[in-house]
Formats: sequence, C-alpha cells, structure tokens
Amino acid sequence: MSRHRELLLNAFQMAAPGHTWAGLWRHPRDASAAYNSLDYWVSLARTAERGLFDGVFLADVIGQYDVYGGSAETALARAAQAPNLDPFLLVPAMAQATHHLGFGVTANLTYEHPFTFTRRVSTLDQLTGGRVGWNIVTGYLESGARGMGLAEARAHDVRYEAGEDFLEAAYKLWEGSWEAGAVLRDAESGVFSDPARVHRVRHEGPYYRVDGRHLSEPSPQRSPVLYQAGTSSRGRLFAARHAEAIFLNGHSKAVAARAVRSIREAARAAGRDPRDIRMFLGATVIVAPTRAEALDLRDEYARYLDAQGQYALVSGWTGIDLAGLRPDEPLAYQATNAMQSLVENLTAPGERPFTLADFAEFGPRGARAPFIVGSPSEVADALIDWAEAADIDGFNLTRVVAPETLEAFVDLVVPELQARGAFKTAYREGTLREKLFPGAGPHLKASHPGAAYRVPGRSAAS
Ligand SMILES: Cc1cc2nc3c(=O)[nH]c(=O)nc-3n(C[C@H](O)[C@H](O)[C@H](O)COP(=O)(O)O)c2cc1C
Repeated sequence: MSRHRELLLNAFQMAAPGHTWAGLWRHPRDASAAYNSLDYWVSLARTAERGLFDGVFLADVIGQYDVYGGSAETALARAAQAPNLDPFLLVPAMAQATHHLGFGVTANLTYEHPFTFTRRVSTLDQLTGGRVGWNIVTGYLESGARGMGLAEARAHDVRYEAGEDFLEAAYKLWEGSWEAGAVLRDAESGVFSDPARVHRVRHEGPYYRVDGRHLSEPSPQRSPVLYQAGTSSRGRLFAARHAEAIFLNGHSKAVAARAVRSIREAARAAGRDPRDIRMFLGATVIVAPTRAEALDLRDEYARYLDAQGQYALVSGWTGIDLAGLRPDEPLAYQATNAMQSLVENLTAPGERPFTLADFAEFGPRGARAPFIVGSPSEVADALIDWAEAADIDGFNLTRVVAPETLEAFVDLVVPELQARGAFKTAYREGTLREKLFPGAGPHLKASHPGAAYRVPGRSAAS
C-alpha cells in the first residue's frame, strides 16, 4: 500500500445549536443543544484529542441571518447559528482537559480593537501553553454592523484593507513590544519586568491607532497561528500575506483545486513559500462499519435537515435572498458584499448551476464541500483522494450529529488513515505552530510579514 503525506484534522464546531447543517439539533441522539454547557465542550475536546486531532476549529458570527425573506425570523426559529456564544470563553476548559489539542478561534476584527484583542489572544495562548490559532474574519452580515451601531457594513475590499491595518498593529503588539528576556520575575531585586525592554508601540493607521505597550507578557507563540477563510481575489491577497492556514470549501475537486492553486500562487508572489500555508478543506463525513450502515445513517440524518434553516444560512453567507429564487431557477452570479468566494464557487463556470433544491440537499451540493459516506476504508480512500486532487493538507470535519459523527470518525476512520501512513500515530511536542509545521519554531517564521515587527536585538532570536 502506498504511503501518503500525513493529513491534518480539525473538528469544526460552533458555539450554537445549529452550525452549517441546520435542524440536526433535533435528532434524538444529538447533543448540540447543550452547546451552552462546559460538559459539551470538554467532552468534545477529549474525543478530538483521543483521535489525535490537530485542533478544534470554532466558527463565529457577529449578527443574525436576516437576509432570507428580509427578516431574522427563520434564523431564530430554525437555529441558524443563533443563538450563539463567544467561542473564546470555551477554550480554557477544553485546554484544561487536554494536552496537545489546538484551538482555532474565529474572531471578527471589525468589531475589535488591537490593543485589547491582542491581550485576549495572549491570555489564551498563555493559558493553553501555545495552542491557539486565530481565524481572522471581517464579517459578512449587515445585521452585525447595525448591532454595533454602524449604518452599514464596510465594503468587501475595505474590510480586507482594515484587516491589513489591524494586523500591522497586532504584530507590533505581539512581536515588537516585549523583548525576549524582558520578564525577570526576580524576587530578590524586586523587579518583575525590565522597563527598558518593554517598548511602547505607536501605530497610526488609516483604521486603527495604538499608543501603548502590549498589556501581556509574551506568550509561547507570541502571534497565534493565523488562520483565514475567504478566497475571493482580494481575500487571496490577504491570505497570501498573513495566513499560515486557510479554511476553504469547494463542492468539486476542480473548484477546491482552483482555489488552492490560486492561493499558493499568490503566496509565492508575496515572497512566501506556498507550503508555509496549510490548506484545510471543509468536509462532512458519515462513516459506519459497513457502507450499507453508513447509507442508512445518512438517510436517517437527512430527515432532520431543515430546508428553511439552510436557506437562511446560505442567504446570509452569500448576501443573496434565496426567498426570491423560483424552485428551478439557477443561482446567477452577482457581486454582493458578503462571501464573494462562495458566490464565485456556486456559480463557477463548467459546474452545474445551483438551485434551491441543492441548498437543502443533505449531500455534496448542500455541503458545498466534500460529503463522504461509506465504510472506514472507503472514507479514508476518499479523503486521501481529495487531498491529492485538490492539493490540500487536511480537513475541517463538520459537525453533523454531535458527538456521534466525531466519535465514529475517531474510532473508525483514524485507524484506517494511520494504517495508510496518512495520519500521525502520536502527537509531536510543542506549540500549535510547531505541530502544524514540523521543524518550525514556536514563533512566526522569519519570512512571515509579522516577523518584521520583532524588536531588534535579543528578541530577534526568540
Ligand atoms: C470556509 C469558510 C469559513 C468561514 N467561516 C467564517 C466564520 O466562522 N465567521 C465569519 O465571520 N466569517 C467566516 N467566513 C467568511 C470569511 O471570513 C469572509 O468574510 C468571507 O468569505 C468573505 O470573503 P471572501 O469574499 O474573500 O470569501 C468563512 C468563509 C469561508 C469560505
């Protein structure tokens, strides 16, 4: 049997009763309505670590899905990512219950300030011993902007420009404020931190201003592992500069491969090694000991999918009100202020156009990503096929019925992948960055733009 490169795996979750498959919370064996209990998260983290997963990836959204039918009614009734909780606050409990598991936490920078946000991330990186990643997002819901007291959301490309400014300020704080060795903790002299080695950051950007020292001492990774999701043409430029890992979707190998290729090309053009970006593809996996059992499980789950909830989600993601689409009318490309890369994927030339029925399909088109059903060996083969065809490094495994879909994956698919040499058999030591990039140090690589903000001298070697 040929050996494959080791895949990376994240459990893709959200602190909400409904994630990307609306309605599954009603399944009698589903526990996701307990999303507001620590037991749910601790148990999930333990399962993921038992399966040697690289991380739990937590989505988040600011705002409600009120594009569908022009109202939030469907989203609220059908639990389309509402209600939800702040994902940051779940992490310490999960970290306490695990040793190696990483945490990719989504945070929308548009509604944060670098001075306080960098402290929040440093706190988590300290408490987890360097296991934190930040999924950098900028928001796609107008309702979020209104909730924050703004008349309207920033325009799509402006959001990315503001993101550049935010990151510059954040790098200065994480990388350039505290020198390595600035913290003495010297009880004898009574000096905790050496003031001469804690530098004041002055940032005067078009969107953000900072004048102050980073509030926290350096955490194991300083800057967290930087995730990004969003692969429109502007999104790719942003990703090529900043991302160390990218989360993308694609309902066909061709669509996913195209996105990966274009990001790797953009990274090369930005002077980075394209292999310094780990590509995670979203995937839904339904596995059982035999193919027949897996197909039965799929049919059983499908009965709980809530079409209205799916329409509310897709309308919010795309910015296109699906209530205006006739049942057999194909979705046509339009420029929107939401997820442009999703609209591009759904209307990709050469692909069968999407209709309403597709969005409510419990299958690859409803997933807009790999949807794999089968026996353990069939699933393992399919994952490896996808990874090779689309040149991706790993998968973000979508929640279907929690916790059983994740448990089934851990018990049945992980051993198959390991037998093929396509998954690790033990964790490596080190921070999340060191685990994702064997041989790398805990901090941003020197070729990453954030590394340029390090304080010269002793900290450069840190
Ligand atoms: C696979 C995927 C996952 C995403 N997850 C989130 C999320 O959890 N929260 C969020 O606010 N935006 C999320 N986004 C939205 C992106 O961050 C981005 O705002 C959006 O895709 C628009 O950028 P684009 O047009 O470049 O794709 C996600 C996008 C993709 C493609």
